[in-house]
Amino acid sequence: MTSRSLIDSFQRRVSYLRVSVTDRCDLRCAYCMPERMTFLPKADVLSLEELDRLVSAFVRRGVRKVRLTGGEPLGRRDLLFLVERLSRFLGADLDEITLTTNGTQLKRFAQPLFDAGMRRINVSLDTLDAATFARIARRDVLGDVLAGIDAAQGAGLHVKLNVVALKDDNAREIPELIRWGHARGHDVCLIETMPLGEIEAQRTDQYLPLSQVRAELESFWRLTDISDTTGGPARYVRVEETGGRLGFITPLTHNFCESCNRVRVTCTGRLYTCLGRDDGADLRAALRASPDDGLLDAAIDEAIRLKPKGHDFVIERKQPAVARHMSTTGG
Ligand code: 5AD
Ligand code: SF4
Repeated sequence: MTSRSLIDSFQRRVSYLRVSVTDRCDLRCAYCMPERMTFLPKADVLSLEELDRLVSAFVRRGVRKVRLTGGEPLGRRDLLFLVERLSRFLGADLDEITLTTNGTQLKRFAQPLFDAGMRRINVSLDTLDAATFARIARRDVLGDVLAGIDAAQGAGLHVKLNVVALKDDNAREIPELIRWGHARGHDVCLIETMPLGEIEAQRTDQYLPLSQVRAELESFWRLTDISDTTGGPARYVRVEETGGRLGFITPLTHNFCESCNRVRVTCTGRLYTCLGRDDGADLRAALRASPDDGLLDAAIDEAIRLKPKGHDFVIERKQPAVARHMSTTGG
């Protein structure tokens, strides 16, 4: 098994696969995509059977954690079928299957996801104010998201709230969001905006360095660094006053590439070996060329060998680092 592990030329072992099951989304978060977003033609998108085959190939090569993302993964019809199929690996080759969702349909899916073997999910929540939510996401559905979070907790799913730090839209509300999340027993994770894909707004206007947020939080809370990791890039602290865990994902103020254990696959089967670069492989061609996985394995090997050392996000640059949106690659 070890000789077949996916190890890149910087000796990083790839153990975490993020799969964007659809690029479509029912929201239009202003930092993520334009209002008039062009989505991929459905014919280009892999079937759930093909996604299962693709993920299974990675699991055989030592991937131990799979996160389903999007777009909005719960918008993909029959997503539960994929979760149920992948759950055959749980407890043996796979440690966990997780999900990143905007929560709008979570009320309906929370219990079935738990029943299919899922135990942890990330829900995006940038504000608790309905008007602010409608402005950021361009859809007035905060109530659905909050109901979804409640349903997830009720079903026994551990919830982490993802908060994108936005200078104008939610900066002042961040302490309240953390307090709210921790009071309910959720982890909270703050994320810096990343320059992915064209949007209408100027990213520099929204960019809020988390070093600044942390300094502000430390003016009234005690934050204790903890070594917990959930397999991703977040650095965690314990907020002594709330007792909760707070994560910081700081691609811009702190480069986290040295310990990168991840690769991403899009819904069209394109492998990206770095979120901020174009390197990767077209796994759909390899997948469809033959029912046997030889070509697929070879394409994966070649791409992992060439996994870049790191991204080079610079927020001030006029052009986004890569043309594709977060919703294509999966957050
Ligand atoms: N920069 C940072 N975070 C983003 N997300 C979507 N687009 C961006 C971006 N450009 C977030 C979503 C979600 C997570 C998957 O990524 O809000 O919480
Ligand atoms: Fe949809 Fe997530 Fe992008 Fe918002 S950030 S538009 S919820 S994919």
